[in-house]
Amino acid sequence: MKIITVCLGNICRSPMAEGILRHLARERGITIRTDSAGTSDYHVGEAPDRRAQAAMKRKGIDIGDLRARQFVAKDLEDFDIILAMDASNLQNMLKLAPNDALAAKAYLIMDHAPAHPLREVPDPYFGGDEGFDAVYHMLMDACNALLDEVEQRTNLKHGAQ
Ligand code: 4NP
Repeated sequence: MKIITVCLGNICRSPMAEGILRHLARERGITIRTDSAGTSDYHVGEAPDRRAQAAMKRKGIDIGDLRARQFVAKDLEDFDIILAMDASNLQNMLKLAPNDALAAKAYLIMDHAPAHPLREVPDPYFGGDEGFDAVYHMLMDACNALLDEVEQRTNLKHGAQ
């Protein structure tokens, strides 16, 4: 199972989501491949924003190794699940989709947390630290729900028959 998270810059929301998925998968003992990308090329090659790194560190998760890259059409082929942070990211990815089957792999990450009042993960880039903490909690809810589904749909748990 290959999962990619996508935002605009790939330095705030999507690397946080990638770090959370990677952390939760390890905790649960399930094997997934994770990656993240940005629809823009604004920050290609950069480490996650220091505020994103700090928010994750406060929860004991290190994302300092991640580096930003731009989302490309081939990602629609390469990944099984493509999670957009907001509607604009989703729209920009869908423009790259050559057919409906590939387009159908991409949807909003908060679709996994339907009880949450927000459908889109707000861009924390121009705000304060509290925005990054709010993003963390939203992503944690959505990623836990996603991995619940992945565990039900597949048999990737170590030691499972
Ligand atoms: P992200 O946040 O999409 O969550 O990584 C942003 C990072 C950079 C910019 C906008 C959003 N920017 O305009 O440079």
